[in-house]
Amino acid sequence: TDSRSASLTTAQLSLLVLVIQNSTLVLMMRCSRVRKSPDQMYIASTAVFLAEILKIIACLIVLLIQKRTLKRFINVIQKDIFEQPTEIIKMIIPSALYALQNNLLYVALSNLEAATFQVTYQLKILSTAIFSVLMLGRSLSRGKWFALVLLMVGVTLVQLQTVNHHITASSASDIDIDKNNNQTINLKNHNDEDPTSSTITVTSKSSTATATHILMAAQNPLIGLIAVITSCISSGFAGCYFEKVLKSSDTSMWVRNIQLGFSGSTFSVLAMILYDGKEIFNDGFFQGYNSLTFAVVGNQALGGLLVAMVVKYADNILKGFATSVSIIVSGIISFYFLNFQPSSQFTIVSISADRDTRLILADIEAT
Ligand code: C5P
Repeated sequence: TDSRSASLTTAQLSLLVLVIQNSTLVLMMRCSRVRKSPDQMYIASTAVFLAEILKIIACLIVLLIQKRTLKRFINVIQKDIFEQPTEIIKMIIPSALYALQNNLLYVALSNLEAATFQVTYQLKILSTAIFSVLMLGRSLSRGKWFALVLLMVGVTLVQLQTVNHHITASSASDIDIDKNNNQTINLKNHNDEDPTSSTITVTSKSSTATATHILMAAQNPLIGLIAVITSCISSGFAGCYFEKVLKSSDTSMWVRNIQLGFSGSTFSVLAMILYDGKEIFNDGFFQGYNSLTFAVVGNQALGGLLVAMVVKYADNILKGFATSVSIIVSGIISFYFLNFQPSSQFTIVSISADRDTRLILADIEAT
């Protein structure tokens, strides 16, 4: 039918934008966390909170545009949100998980290399599939399970080189290699007049491994790993929970997101006050912010809305595929713009991911 083909287009479009958004978020977030000294660092919990508020504002604006008049808009807000406390209570579970997960993402990216993070984060694909079966009654054929695991493994292989390449590219200005292959790493220096900037010289012939290692020295990989695994479980569960709520009633996605945002912002305020209250009180909410921080916040808010759209028009499993494809897209971008040489593994995985995605798209069309 017409509506089916229209919603398929929306599904594809939202997936495409999710792919682009996802390809940039991890790198931007990681850049925003490692390129500063701790005393100039922005407070992650404030960024999570801001993204939450931004999402609510965006949903309100969309609702206002959809309803056309202020009167009808206020009517919807009153009837669907203020007069539906049980619906808001229903959203407490996923919003608490998302608040936790959004904060853990910063913990993970502050403690793990982007490559390690991306690899471990792929477990999300599997946890999502498991929760889709348990909570949404989906059944996946053995072939599809195999495809999921294969994609996960494949993406992991690609990641190991793609993201390393990004790290090299993004921190190239921090690493100078002289003619004897000694590496000089400018740890803090992004401001030429900054007297606290320091350099370390490493005598090593291996190009970037040592440099990367030293840049990561102050971090705790175990904490990063626990954070990322917890995020995967939370992501799978919360995603399927939201999908179930969204697809079991007529309430619009925008209203659902505002309901989610209400408890979500409450949780993020609590996290912010509990963990960083003192620091915020002393040095201000926006301490350490720069334009990149605002870009990360905007990107994260956009990502949240896209996730909701993808879950509505497609489903969580497909969302997992989109995020894996985004890794391949960033590989292709690096190929054209950053001189990245793809290996045969990369090419094989790209082709098979393309095929899997088409199979799954054909599958939604059929259902
Ligand atoms: O990685 P994952 O897909 O679980 O990420 C979900 C992200 O999307 C979280 O940052 C969460 O806050 C956001 N989200 C949202 N609104 C929804 C669903 C998810 O903002 N309805």
